[in-house]
Amino acid sequence: MSWREETGREHGAAIYPGLRGRVAVVTGGASGIGEAIVEALVRQQARVVFLDVQAQAGEALVERLKASADAGPVFLRCDLTDAAELKLVLQRIDADFGRVDVLVNNAGNDTRHAIEEVTPESWDRTMAVNLKHHFFMVQGLLPAMRRAGAASVINLSSIAWMIPSTGLPVYVAAKAAIVGLTRTLAHELGGENIRVNCVLPGAIATERQLRLWLTPTYQAEVLARQALKRLITPEEVARMVLFLASDESSAVTNQSFVVDGGWV
Ligand SMILES: NC(=O)c1ccc[n+]([C@@H]2O[C@H](COP(=O)([O-])OP(=O)(O)OC[C@H]3O[C@@H](n4cnc5c(N)ncnc54)[C@H](O)[C@@H]3O)[C@@H](O)[C@H]2O)c1
Repeated sequence: MSWREETGREHGAAIYPGLRGRVAVVTGGASGIGEAIVEALVRQQARVVFLDVQAQAGEALVERLKASADAGPVFLRCDLTDAAELKLVLQRIDADFGRVDVLVNNAGNDTRHAIEEVTPESWDRTMAVNLKHHFFMVQGLLPAMRRAGAASVINLSSIAWMIPSTGLPVYVAAKAAIVGLTRTLAHELGGENIRVNCVLPGAIATERQLRLWLTPTYQAEVLARQALKRLITPEEVARMVLFLASDESSAVTNQSFVVDGGWV
């Protein structure tokens, strides 16, 4: 049951007037939490560019949202693990938009892997899809963020490294590293008004999670662990991202925000 159904309340979506016209780049924006973030930013009338490896889903999202804003989102197909391709895409964003106000590093892949199955190659692949691009997105868009005069970077980590999660050790290591990366970049870039924070979702009911992992048994376990006795939605993660993207969080940097319904 959703928050709305459970409480009978209408959710009055916040409007951050300062986000209107701002350039926001979102990785992994074609589905899941990233899709909710793209939609939330588009509804703020931000100029949204999103990157994803899934061309069909990305184009479908552009089609769905094009009527929701003065400027619909721009989709650029990109495999974030391909350094050469990523470099070209970032150069194109710089040339086409000239500035970046918001960067949401969201793409990831939580495919399960047993300790015995991990090879040096699979370690590198898992780190490439879950950690490496968080750094190179910032590096590549730094000139455009500097030109904006101020910017907000939001990195998607996870509660996976805080709770006793098992079955995906390399992913968990990457998600913990994102917090360290966030904190050092906050200090590297704070003097230039570039804020860097991270958001740590719990078990979020995305289409992929529902299809692959959120079985009735796991759902019961999730609800037993959470203080809130319902599944948390991608839109609820997106709302935290919006706040961090906006000037309402102008003094907030170097921080981690958990959106997990109170997992213990
Ligand atoms: N859903 C959850 O329960 C949950 C919990 C904790 C953390 N997170 C984190 O939130 C973020 C989003 O998770 P999600 O559940 O929406 O994931 P998802 O798998 O539903 O979506 C991830 C998106 O990233 C894209 N992507 C994956 N590899 C890519 C690549 N190489 N290049 C470009 N795009 C690529 C996918 O195509 C997809 O659109 C991730 O960083 C994830 O680790 C999710």
